[in-house]
Amino acid sequence: MTRLLHVVGARPNFMKVAPVLRAGTARGVSQCLVHTGQHYDASMSDSFFRDLDLPSPDVNLEVGSASHAVQTGRIMIEFEPVLEQMAPSWVVVYGDVNSTVACALVGAKRGVRVAHVEAGLRSHDRTMPEEFNRVLTDQLADLCLTPSRDADRHLRAEGIPDSRVRFVGNVMVDTLLHLRERARALRAPESHGVSGKPYAFVTLHRPSNVDDPATLAELLRGLDDLAERMPVLFPIHPRTRRRLTEFALEHLARRVTLLEPLSYLESLSLVDRSALVLTDSGGLQEETTVLGIPCLTARPNTERPVTVSEGTNRLVASTREAIGRAVDEVLTRLRDGGFRPSRPEGWDGRAAERVVEALLGAP
Ligand code: UD1
Repeated sequence: MTRLLHVVGARPNFMKVAPVLRAGTARGVSQCLVHTGQHYDASMSDSFFRDLDLPSPDVNLEVGSASHAVQTGRIMIEFEPVLEQMAPSWVVVYGDVNSTVACALVGAKRGVRVAHVEAGLRSHDRTMPEEFNRVLTDQLADLCLTPSRDADRHLRAEGIPDSRVRFVGNVMVDTLLHLRERARALRAPESHGVSGKPYAFVTLHRPSNVDDPATLAELLRGLDDLAERMPVLFPIHPRTRRRLTEFALEHLARRVTLLEPLSYLESLSLVDRSALVLTDSGGLQEETTVLGIPCLTARPNTERPVTVSEGTNRLVASTREAIGRAVDEVLTRLRDGGFRPSRPEGWDGRAAERVVEALLGAP
């Protein structure tokens, strides 16, 4: 009997595993859930389990924060005996975080089949820690489950045979469509005092944006300019919060409303009614495309190019000036007719069913 061991660790993993667990249950598959504990704050983890109706993890490895090497190493050390005890037929890993590559490596070396959900994405930017995690996890995986066709092409170019690749579509979109009405019913814009008016929703947490004081200062000045034109809601990731304090930069964004990290539903409720999003997150680039909200991504590249070619996403340099110009252009376009929601191929709310189908059908 097929038994799936799903691994999650960090915030963006939770919305990807939720629909796959549901689809597995619907097919009567035996499943267990391991949380590595890479993210551990209530606002970065527990609230997502609640919103997404996730079962409590069967095991929490409680590895916490550390340098990349220490965190990745700890996950491997703690995961190996759990894997041995649970003896699954597949280890299913998600996305591109340190928990993903760590558990893929343990599974592969112990001879347990590994499936990677969200395989094949590439930014081609080797200054991003996630890029190494993506490339290595795909090389280790027995089954690479891809969200978009460009991902299939990357895997082929890296020598991964087609027999190990299966296009399934985007599981994040399954969660978005499943929970959109519940998120709307929350009426988060009302509770934040921005209901019925244009406002911007912002998230920033990438090391390349927040770990360098000059870059972070530019971004904050850009946000403060934007806040002169419309309310700006900025839920802050713990890493960014730490940097703001460490570099003493909070005064640069006086007009910006800084919030604690939000739950999935509250965040979706706010994004859904926003005039524009400015972010460096991967997931928000995809969500805004499906919702038809203009998205400015403060990065020089993206591993999700369909959000630019087919969706509402646009890359913008992390400078005050570039942000100001891009905001002008977005607002002009909104006045002239706006943006349409777009559903790239396989972003249809059924990706998780195809994931389970692929796992059950694999030789
Ligand atoms: C990780 C992922 C990134 C993802 C992001 C989403 C890697 C390499 N990066 O980055 O791809 O977009 O999660 O959030 O895996 N912290 C807390 N509480 C927590 C979690 C983190 O305070 O619950 C703080 C700690 O100071 C920690 C820092 O945030 O050192 C960074 O956390 P970490 O998990 O190492 O990486 P993220 O920046 O969150």
